[in-house]
Amino acid sequence: MEKTFAMVKPDGVQRGLVGTILQRYEQKGLKLVAAKLMNVSRELAEEHYREHASKPFFNELIEYITSGPVFAMVLEGENAIKLVRLLNGATKVEEALPGTIRGDFATSTTCNLVHASDSPESASREIKLWFPEL
Ligand SMILES: Nc1ncnc2c1ncn2[C@@H]1O[C@H](COP(=O)(O)OP(=O)(O)OP(=O)(O)O)[C@@H](O)[C@H]1O
Ligand SMILES: [Mg+2]
Repeated sequence: MEKTFAMVKPDGVQRGLVGTILQRYEQKGLKLVAAKLMNVSRELAEEHYREHASKPFFNELIEYITSGPVFAMVLEGENAIKLVRLLNGATKVEEALPGTIRGDFATSTTCNLVHASDSPESASREIKLWFPEL
């Protein structure tokens, strides 16, 4: 069964949306196989988002992700990687459709509540990075 890495970002934890977001994944039929509430070091944040290191929003992104605890998780199911991306919604705030997590709850492209792996390669890399104990 396919596994993916997902996380409720600091704004989601701060706003008390962990339960609501997890419920959406579970209602879709995805199985929670690991989870933890954790503070993110700058080192981990920079490694996680290394593909964006040259982007103009990189510093803002690292500040945001390290600004408070995140809820990191591993979800499992058929097509888990694509399904969690679909449930999260589009990256740009103005393109995230109602019915998706970002479409229903986010008002900013930077502070967009959730992360999910975007390919089998990133899922495998991110699960190892965030859950080295697994
Ligand atoms: N143009 C932008 N301006 C500000 N922040 C941005 C912009 N594009 C992306 N971000 C931030 O960087 C994160 C990573 O961007 P990416 O292109 O990987 O989007 P994503 O895959 O939908 O999001 P994530 O990787 O967090 O799941 C976004 O979720 C958002 O927090
Ligand atoms: Mg991404």
